[in-house]
Order: sequence, then structure tokens, then C-alpha cells
Amino acid sequence: MAYRLFEGKKHASIYQQYRFAPPVELKDAIVQYLDSKKAPPHELAVDLGCGTGQFTRLLAPHFKEVVGMDVSENQLEEARVVPGEPNITYRQGSAEDLPFEDGTVDLLTAASAAHWFDQSKFLPEANRVLKPGGCIALLGFSETNLRFIYKDCGDGINQIYQEVKQVLQPYTTNPVAVSENKLQDMFSAIPYPDKQRIDEFKTKTLLSVRNLIGFIRTWSMFQTYERKDPQGAEDLLASIQKRILDLMGATSPDTEIERDWAYFCVLASKPL
Ligand SMILES: C[S@@+](CC[C@H](N)C(=O)[O-])C[C@H]1O[C@@H](n2cnc3c(N)ncnc32)[C@H](O)[C@@H]1O
Repeated sequence: MAYRLFEGKKHASIYQQYRFAPPVELKDAIVQYLDSKKAPPHELAVDLGCGTGQFTRLLAPHFKEVVGMDVSENQLEEARVVPGEPNITYRQGSAEDLPFEDGTVDLLTAASAAHWFDQSKFLPEANRVLKPGGCIALLGFSETNLRFIYKDCGDGINQIYQEVKQVLQPYTTNPVAVSENKLQDMFSAIPYPDKQRIDEFKTKTLLSVRNLIGFIRTWSMFQTYERKDPQGAEDLLASIQKRILDLMGATSPDTEIERDWAYFCVLASKPL
């Protein structure tokens, strides 16, 4: 079953505004892994479930050609308007049916997206298109050890954030839980002996209260809730913004908080 939760034009535009790129250092670790399996120069990287292209753009300097693919045309439209690298193209398509010849892809990536794929179709398709020595890198963020830091009220901010997740729990789909499980099933099912999972790639970001609220807006479960109860969804965001600002003793939503969190990444290389 395909999940089509990111299709709306408004959702795509919120994505473009509030989703952040994964850490450059993690992208570097992925490219180094590929370099160690298959000597550069590399020709083709394909970023699956690319959304509005935050991770796709990071790959551009390392490949002759980069293709961002997504099932949602609205996400791709947002990606195409970002001034970018001339070697990137965006194409509509699904991870389960890739429009590439056998053995032509150096690197297949998916950032916060592989949990939406049909594993039983995606893995054979990945194996078909990868070159020998080519790699898969499936990354996402994990909120298990998430911490907010702002004066002495980081724990309070975290508590409010966890409360929002609880409120949205009934609108959470199974794939989101799969991502929180760091793609354990997908990792086990990859048929290559050469595979590893980075469980905790720690990172720090400064983000404004406005952007934290915007980030919550991008969640599929928030979007589902908003479709069901638009007023309730707006009220929820307004109330948590106020509670966070009150706790911080701040008035401007542009006030920044530090967020410490981590990514995971499943890496695998097709045998030579
Ligand atoms: C959570 S977003 C991640 C977007 C982006 N990679 C990022 O890091 O922000 C997941 C994306 O995967 C896309 N998607 C879901 N299922 C897909 C599939 N089977 N094939 C390709 N894209 C898919 C959605 O349309 C959505 O844009």
C-alpha cells in the first residue's frame, strides 16, 4: 500500500519552509562509505522520497548527476524553484518502480522517507539498479535522546513537545513507528553481507520557536489532524507557542532554542 500523505500543495510549501537539511557531516560519512566501496568519480545518485530536495542538494558536488524522486508532484514543484545545482533533476516516481537501467546507479539515498516504502518491492528494485559496489543510505532522525536547551527551561520545553506528540499519537501511522525503530526490519532484510547502521549521529541546531512550531506543522500526523479538525490544529499550535514563550520568558517567536538530537543511517553496499 502506498502512503500519499505529502501530496497537498500547502503541505509541500510548509515542507519547503520548515524542513531542515540533514547534517552535512552525515552526508560526508555517506559519501566516504561509498568512496570506500567504489572508487570515485561517481556518476549517478538518486535521492528517493526527496520531498523539496533538502538532502538532494547536498549530494550535488559529489556526482556527475543527481536525481531527486518523489511520488508527490507538489513536493517536486517546490524543489525545482530552489536555485540549485545544474546537475540535479527532479522526477516524479516511486521507490518501488525505478526508471533506471540495471546496474547504473552509484548511490541510492532516502532521507526521512524509507519508512514509507514498500520494503518487499523497494529492496529488489534497489538491487537491480545499483552498480556492483554501489550503496544504499537510508537516514532519518531519532528523537529518543532529543534535548532542548534554553537557559534553565529546556526540560520544560521538552515536556511540552512530548505532550504534542501524545496529542497527535492517534493520527500516527505505522510507518512513523518504523522510522522511530530506526528501520530495523529494512536493515535486517537488506540481502548484502556488507551493511551497517549508524544508530546515533549526534547533531545540534539552533532554531526559533517559530520554526519549531513550523516543523511540527510538517509532520504527517499533524496534517492528518488538521484535515479532521482545522480549528483544533491551529489552537494546538497557538497554545504550545504561547506556553513555550511564557516558559522562556520571551515574547518574540524568533527567539532561538538549541536542539540536540541525532540521526540514524542504514548503509549497505551491493557486492562486487
Ligand atoms: C517525510 S518526507 C521527507 C522528505 C525529504 N527527503 C526530507 O528529508 O525532508 C517523505 C517523502 O517521501 C515521499 N514518498 C513517500 N512514499 C514514497 C515512495 N514510495 N516513493 C517515493 N517517494 C515517496 C513523500 O511524498 C514525501 O515527500
